[in-house]
Amino acid sequence: MYKVLVLPGDGVGPEVVDEALKVLRKVSSVAHLVFDTEEAVVGGASLERHGVPIIEATLSKAKASDAVLLGAVGGPKWDVLDHPMRPEQALLALREGLGLYANLRPATIDPNLLDASPLKREVVEGVDLLVVRELTGGIYFGKPRGIKKNPDGSEQGFNTEIYATHEVERIARRAFELARKRRRKVVSVDKANILESSILWRKVVTEVGKRFPDVQLSHMYVDNCAMQLIRNPKQFDVMVTTNMFGDILSDEAAMLTGSIGMLPSASLGDRHALYEPVHGSAPDIAGKNEANPIATILSVALMLRYTFELHDLALSVERAVREVLKGYRTVDLLQEHGQPVSCSRMGDLIAERVRS
Ligand code: IPM
Ligand code: MG
Repeated sequence: MYKVLVLPGDGVGPEVVDEALKVLRKVSSVAHLVFDTEEAVVGGASLERHGVPIIEATLSKAKASDAVLLGAVGGPKWDVLDHPMRPEQALLALREGLGLYANLRPATIDPNLLDASPLKREVVEGVDLLVVRELTGGIYFGKPRGIKKNPDGSEQGFNTEIYATHEVERIARRAFELARKRRRKVVSVDKANILESSILWRKVVTEVGKRFPDVQLSHMYVDNCAMQLIRNPKQFDVMVTTNMFGDILSDEAAMLTGSIGMLPSASLGDRHALYEPVHGSAPDIAGKNEANPIATILSVALMLRYTFELHDLALSVERAVREVLKGYRTVDLLQEHGQPVSCSRMGDLIAERVRS
């Protein structure tokens, strides 16, 4: 029996999570496995119920689970709150509390969606890359941070981009290990022409790389990388980078696939794991049954693969998604092709196609 904590969150979060759970139930029935799911509130939903973005008990439940499935957090209602009360703090608390330092964001392009990408077909056809984003360090967590008042009454906001050797080592190791199961190429992305934290990053990644002589390592500055992702995304296999660069580059990589509604993610530590779509809570379409649940459904596939090591079932979910995309689209993917379907119908269609 597998224990999964489900955190639907805000906006479209609950809608896409419902569909992902539909798929998980189908997996459970075809494979005769039991997934013991429990739900809790996070983000805005938790602010409404408990007055804080996440409560200690939820964090403890997450620690006691084999995996966490999260929807999305945030919305305009809570955007006015001070930093420590923002719904996004729930995500950061989970990442930090569970030690989820490795964030995997695979971007592959479905052959049926070549026309949904804003880039030319010949540029995106065959793209299959994995962003490995450091998730518990860097400028997101670095101290000192704050907003201070100057004597003249003006203010200064400041943050610290900081990386210690061991933080770079463990994320680099993950990236090389993952590359071994793929095309054995790692590009490390930094800003080592300007930032000391990047100089150390590059040095440590290079050191770790020596232990993986079968994997080809190269380095790229982040500005060039942003350009190369659009110019020739097929050159990338595994990309390893810092928390903030990874945040930005993974949104860019998402658009190669046609819609950010397609991109799943896995956040892994040494003991815990959390799975969530890369997209946010999309308040503008929340409650309309219009969201694309595929990113969350593919996040379930990643859960089956990385936490439960049920590789065939992970493939089966991914295959079901591909089959459905031959004919059906949620509105974010709708071009001239495909039949428009709602979020819940998309979930039904995919669940129906999951086989053992
Ligand atoms: C992401 C999101 C989060 C991040 C926000 C919601 C805190 O953009 O997961 O990419 O910046 O990490
Ligand atoms: Mg982001």
